Order: sequence, then structure tokens, then C-alpha cells
Amino acid sequence: MDDLKAKYLAQIADAGDEAALETIRVSAVGKKGEVALKMRELGKMTPEERQVAGPALNALKDEINSALAAKKAALADAALDARLRTEWLDVTLPTRPTRTGTLHPISQASEELTAIFAELGFSVAEGPRIDTDWYNFDALNIPGHHPARAEMDTFYMHRAEGDDRPPHVLRTHTSPVQIRSMEKMGAPLRIICPGGVYRADYDQTHTPMFHQVEGLALDKNISMANLKWVLEEFVKSFFEIDDVELRFRASHFPFTEPSAEVDIRCSWKDGTLKIGEGDDWLEILGSGMVHPKVIAAGGIDPDVYQGFAFGIGIDRLAMLKYGIPDLRAFFDSDLRWLRHYGFQCLDVPTLHGGLSR
Ligand code: DAH
Repeated sequence: MDDLKAKYLAQIADAGDEAALETIRVSAVGKKGEVALKMRELGKMTPEERQVAGPALNALKDEINSALAAKKAALADAALDARLRTEWLDVTLPTRPTRTGTLHPISQASEELTAIFAELGFSVAEGPRIDTDWYNFDALNIPGHHPARAEMDTFYMHRAEGDDRPPHVLRTHTSPVQIRSMEKMGAPLRIICPGGVYRADYDQTHTPMFHQVEGLALDKNISMANLKWVLEEFVKSFFEIDDVELRFRASHFPFTEPSAEVDIRCSWKDGTLKIGEGDDWLEILGSGMVHPKVIAAGGIDPDVYQGFAFGIGIDRLAMLKYGIPDLRAFFDSDLRWLRHYGFQCLDVPTLHGGLSR
């Protein structure tokens, strides 16, 4: 019995995996194992011999069984340890910079301006890019015969033969979101709406699809002074310089009265645009006090609420800030251009952390 015990305990100690343990278990304490065979011999013994051998065999069986269980647990621990070692990961390492995939300058500029206007209390609103001509024109005080409709170079959607409802249009500006936001949220109201707009126009500074951000603030005590301050704060934050010079030019829009177009001082040196210096002016936005008819079209009483609105060209802002001379290249999907002008996607712009670095 001592030989049996020594043999099996040694085998168990040497077993390399659970399969080997199982083989040992079967040959040692299984139904036809060596211990069982010995038990069968008990019948041939004298009662005195049996009294000694019986308990000893049972003890041997118990001992082998508990050695098997202990070894099984040890193997499982070792397997877990090995797995943990191979799956080890240092989560404190910085992310690896990657050259594939960058954020388009328009996405970057949109995130930057959203961060700035959020700080000024404006929330982001959205509207459809395909809209009815009521939202795109009529509700904004541009009736059917108005010359502004022709000036906008509108893309009209085709209607089926015999369908004489007015056509849908690709929105020519983000201004229809003013009406939708007033309808949805009422007054007081402070929203911006960044998004794509469409006009049939194509040259170095115009593409048939481009981006605007609309702004609208409605309340009981709003004046042109609020508009001017908000725009100046915005431009200073966006360009991250204090001496940006703006020029407010009296203008005309059907949906504002009075209206102003705003230009920014810039230079075009060696094919690069620079802001805050030079003798050129680039128009970046239209703005004004919202026309009472527009406020009424949004379902709000213009005798109680006034407001200002503005529409800024996001692409223009991006061209100016990042010195990109040709707008058409924005939409060419040229990877070399995207790698050169694109932004790291993990650098989320914030006012405290920096807009663009
Ligand atoms: N919607 C105008 C355009 O696309 C821009 C604009 C001008 C928007 C004046 C406004 C505004 O909200 O008040 O040319």
C-alpha cells in the first residue's frame, strides 16, 4: 500500500494538465483501478487482516482523491495566471497617434463654433436639407415674386407630371431652421444651426454645396447691440486672437430689418489667406434684427418678442482660420489634402482646453 501511495502521489505531482490527472484517477481510484482491485482482495482475508487493511485502503483512496482535487485546483490557478499574463494590457499608456483618418476642417470648425456658442447659451437645432419652399422662402418673408428667390440659384426638386403642389427645394440657407425652431420651442429662444446648404454656383470661393451656421436669439429686450457683441465675441474666440477687425455694412435681407453684412479684415499674401491684417475684406456673414413677419410666421407674437439672427459661412471661416485658399478642394476627397488639412479626431475643441492645437 505504501508503494501504491508513493507511486500515485508522484504521478499526480508530475501531471501537466487535467487530461493527465483524469488518466491517473481512472487507474488509481476508478471502478477498475488498482485501489478497487485491492478492495476486492479484502474478501479473501481473515477478519483480523480485514480490520487493518479495510480502513487503510479507504484512507489511501481518500488521500489519492484529495491529492487529485488539490492538483486540479493548482492546474486551474496556473492556467488562469498564464492567461492573465498573456492578456496583460497597460491601460495607462497614451493612445498611439494614427495617420489614417482625420477630421475634415469643416467638421472641426463646426465643433469649434458649437463649443463657443454653447458657452454663450445657444443650443444646437436641426432641420431638413430638403425643405418646402414655404420654410425656405415664404416664411422668411420672401414671397413668390421676390427677386431674392432668383438670386439664390435654388435647386428645385422634380415633381411628378400633374403634381402641382409647390416644389421642394434643397435648402439654400439654414434660415428655415429659424422658423422650425420657433414652432418647436417658442420664445424666449437661443439656437444655432450648423449644416449643409445648396446653391447652383461654382468658383474659387463657391461650391454647389456649402455650410452655414444660423443663429437666432429671441427675447423681450434684444437689440442690435446684443447682436454686435455676440458676433464680436464669437469671432475673437473662433480665431483665437483679440484684434480681429469686423466691418458692419448696412445691407438688406427680406427676413431682417435692419440688416447688416459683416466682413473680416484679411490679406491674400502668396496665395494664403491671413486674418486681422492686410487691406482686403472677406464677407463672412449676414445678420440683422428678425423681421416681425418672420417672428409671426414662427407662431410667436412680434409685439412681445424681438430678436437678432445671423447666418455665417462655415467654409469661409475654416478657409480663413486655417489658411486654405480654394474652397473647391474641400469637397474633392483628395486624401493628400485631407491628411494635410485634417485634424486629429481625439482633440475635442473646448474653450478652456483650446479650440485647435
Ligand atoms: N440666409 C442668408 C444667406 O444665406 C444669411 C443670413 C442673413 C442669415 C441675415 C440670417 C440673417 O439669419 O439675419 O445669405
